[in-house]
Amino acid sequence: MTERDATAAWRYHNATKHSYWSVRLEGHQLDWANEPLPFKLYRGLEPIPLPRDLHATDVPCLEALASVEYPAEKEAPDLPTLASLLYFSAGITKRVRYPGGEIYFRAAACTGALYHIDLYLVCGDLPGLSAGVYHFGPHDFALRRLRAGDYRAVLVDAAGQEPTVAAAPAVLVFASTFWRNAWKYRARAYRHCFWDSGTILANLLAMAAAHRLPAKVVLGFADGQVDHLLGLDGRREASLFMVALGRGTPPAGTLQVPALSLETVPLSAREVEYDEIVRMHQAASLADGDEAARWRGEPPPMPLPPPSGRLYPLAPLPLSASEPTEAVVLRRGSTRRFDRGGSISFAELSTVVHCATRGIPADFLPSRGLGLNRLFLIVNAVDGLPPGAYVYRPEAGALELLREGEFRQQAGYLALEQPLGADACVDLYLLSPLGRVLERFGDRGYRAAQLEAGTVGGKVYLAAYALRRGATGLTFYDDDVTAFFSPAAEGHGVMFLTAVGVPWRRRAQN
Ligand SMILES: Cc1cc2nc3c(=O)[nH]c(=O)nc-3n(C[C@H](O)[C@H](O)[C@H](O)COP(=O)(O)O)c2cc1C
Repeated sequence: MTERDATAAWRYHNATKHSYWSVRLEGHQLDWANEPLPFKLYRGLEPIPLPRDLHATDVPCLEALASVEYPAEKEAPDLPTLASLLYFSAGITKRVRYPGGEIYFRAAACTGALYHIDLYLVCGDLPGLSAGVYHFGPHDFALRRLRAGDYRAVLVDAAGQEPTVAAAPAVLVFASTFWRNAWKYRARAYRHCFWDSGTILANLLAMAAAHRLPAKVVLGFADGQVDHLLGLDGRREASLFMVALGRGTPPAGTLQVPALSLETVPLSAREVEYDEIVRMHQAASLADGDEAARWRGEPPPMPLPPPSGRLYPLAPLPLSASEPTEAVVLRRGSTRRFDRGGSISFAELSTVVHCATRGIPADFLPSRGLGLNRLFLIVNAVDGLPPGAYVYRPEAGALELLREGEFRQQAGYLALEQPLGADACVDLYLLSPLGRVLERFGDRGYRAAQLEAGTVGGKVYLAAYALRRGATGLTFYDDDVTAFFSPAAEGHGVMFLTAVGVPWRRRAQN
């Protein structure tokens, strides 16, 4: 990557926008006979079963979501804690039969239920697990050891001595096999890497908070070094970011890493590589730990002009009233139809916005609040709030009314003409002032902005379900969304959309 150069990100972003015409003209047919497996299956590696008798936590989900700092009660995760973190972020929580087979739904939402994100664990000796590099297999809820021994020093070196990685007894690395998502979404799958790992990350951070285990997201690292450690080629399959877990003493392990050659089951008869993805990922990669150390840091300031519309200060509900995160994760599932006649209260919307935007502990974000994105909303049916377009003003803890009006029809259109966007009570959009972000962070800033948005979107999902409401991620017509929220959104790229509302079935039963 040329430092602070961001031409690849602009090119990729513009080339993968959806518009009214692009979806009509693209003519992409799904090749069902070539559908990829939703799992990475190693041949010949013994499964190390994870305990299924999971430790229950009793931290209310809304509190866990809103926690940015919490007292660390665990220095290192033991095996049952790891099992709980992995299950409630990336485990299989539901099996649904359909005429052609069975879909294994997971703890976090994923575009197209294609599940292209894999989690790897790099750890020193932990209670119940010896030092090694492991792959997490959701299909049989087991780890597989790819390397024996302590390789954490490789991550520390790759991350340019980032202090939480240097002190972490365990690190989870998120990676994507692009084809598993690109089969359906083609080049847009690179955006989905961060959307779909962001939703997993939202669950993981909530569970880490519930276990009182320190967690920090690290995006500044030398990609090639980490990929080499995990046996990924960086082209077909690549690491995305890591999460340092726990707090201990720096590892003294080796930096010598022989190449891995482990056989995996083919995903499908043939795979298609998308140049846009390869180019974007390579341009956004960092060469070594020194570059990683220079890359990370505070995001650019993103001042908004003073508010000119009416302000509605958030009034969240008490966070302590919600169930533990585990119960909420088990209940979560993307709402397939909202009740157009339903509404939510302003207190509920306030709670969702509050919990989702408290902050994400990451090496490219401020210690609190949103860093690279702004939250824009289309309010259709929120009691106590006029319908209209809003922007969240973190500095005032309030929603600013940009334009009052009944925008259900536009909300459905903007969500790729899906009724879910129109029938929801509220559509929550994350938009990023990409010019500033890319100027500060270069091409890798694109990954950072998408990841923050995906994680906030994942928190919106959980907060909505904690309140016993429904939610779904949705895709969108990029430039039309920016135009809809402009002039406030001028120069912003659309990163993520979550719709929140009343699930259709539940109200019908009342
Ligand atoms: C970022 C994102 C975008 C999504 N976009 C759509 C969409 O446009 N339309 C839709 O019906 N579902 C959408 N979904 C929902 C997924 O289809 C759903 O998460 C997946 O089928 C897994 O099901 P579950 O969320 O119920 O576990 C989206 C999910 C995510 C995370």
